Amino acid sequence: MQYVSSRSMLSVLTSRRGRWFVPFAILLALTLILTVAGSIAVLQAAHADEIGRGEQLAKRLCAVCHLNPGQGEKTGPGTIPGFVAVARREGQTLEGIVDWLTSVPPMMPNHHLSQDEMHALAFYILSLRDADAGQPSPGQ
Ligand code: HEC
Repeated sequence: MQYVSSRSMLSVLTSRRGRWFVPFAILLALTLILTVAGSIAVLQAAHADEIGRGEQLAKRLCAVCHLNPGQGEKTGPGTIPGFVAVARREGQTLEGIVDWLTSVPPMMPNHHLSQDEMHALAFYILSLRDADAGQPSPGQ
């Protein structure tokens, strides 16, 4: 059965009437590829944009506590982890950071962040995962 149907498919493709299908299929495939590639590019641009906004916010609001050169993990109660260390925590996620900020933790000033700002900050913090620990924002 399988054989018969692929045979007849082939004969449609190679028949005179079926030939229109080949350029059509190629065009369709190309359109699909371009659409997917395009949306990936748009998504990446949106990401970069978000990281940039997060960075600006972080430098303005969080830097005194979290972006000091060489700052690592918390070393005890009341001490502050650097953002690179926060980003590298095992199992760290965007949601994890957003949840932390949403909870308005009492050890941090309340910056009255919007959901958008929290997301941008979380994107920025996670982007530091591969940063040199001593330089929280490479290339900036
Ligand atoms: C006045 C200092 C201060 C400022 C400013 C500050 N934080 Fe914090 N932050 C802390 C302290 C202290 C902790 C550690 C709390 C703890 O775990 O005991 C912390 C922890 C965190 C953590 C990690 C929580 C964890 O998993 O350990 C994140 C994420 C964070 N802050 C994000 C931010 C962001 C984003 C900003 C800026 C909008 C900010 N903080 C501004 C003091 C500050």
